[in-house]
Amino acid sequence: MCFKRGMSHHTINTKRLLLRGWKPDDHAPFAAMCGDADVMRYIGNGKTKSADDAARYIASFQNEWNERGFGLFAVEAKQTGDLIGFTGLSTPDFLPEVLPSVEIGWRFSKSSWGKGFASEAATAALAFGVNEMGITDIVSIYQIGNGASARIMQKLGMIFDRRTIDPTCERAVEVYRLPHQYR
Ligand SMILES: CC(C)(COP(=O)(O)OP(=O)(O)OC[C@H]1O[C@@H](n2cnc3c(N)ncnc32)[C@H](O)[C@@H]1OP(=O)(O)O)[C@@H](O)C(=O)NCCC(=O)NCCS
Repeated sequence: MCFKRGMSHHTINTKRLLLRGWKPDDHAPFAAMCGDADVMRYIGNGKTKSADDAARYIASFQNEWNERGFGLFAVEAKQTGDLIGFTGLSTPDFLPEVLPSVEIGWRFSKSSWGKGFASEAATAALAFGVNEMGITDIVSIYQIGNGASARIMQKLGMIFDRRTIDPTCERAVEVYRLPHQYR
């Protein structure tokens, strides 16, 4: 894994993936993900989002990077150059009971699922947060039913913290947390 420091962005190279800043060309593939009911099923109220919403999300991801020096990376498959998803760090404002903390999250296009890409990308993003940024209070939150996300949290070495309700959508979630020995 190779970290490279940029103006307000970092890039990370893994075996198959490039974690990088957001580009204008990312809007169309990201909007397609946000418009896919299977991708959005366990996110918030589970409803798909519009192309305009996707544009606003990308702008907010860029703002986070500029303001905090960390955020959600665009994830590109090196073999094709395609944007296949995102992973990285954000603030879980939707769940005030876990604040202050930083959340690691991920979202990938359906055609890329099942190949270990999310695990590969999230492992690199977590290492960035802990080793490069010195962030220690890292949580991850998934809605009950999202077994693939729960599995990734376990593979990252995170441990169960609590089951609770996301007040923004009244759905049951589980919180995982990075244990002390990883900090
Ligand atoms: C969650 C998501 C990123 C997983 O992507 P992926 O590329 O398939 O993930 P990976 O292949 O790296 O790893 C998934 C792991 O979960 C396992 N898995 C897949 N489906 C599962 C299920 N229903 N129950 C339990 N484990 C499951 C896989 O076997 C794999 O584990 P393994 O490496 O031990 O075999 C992808 O499904 C996605 O983008 N979903 C929509 C967005 C989303 O829900 N984001 C997270 C919100 S918390």
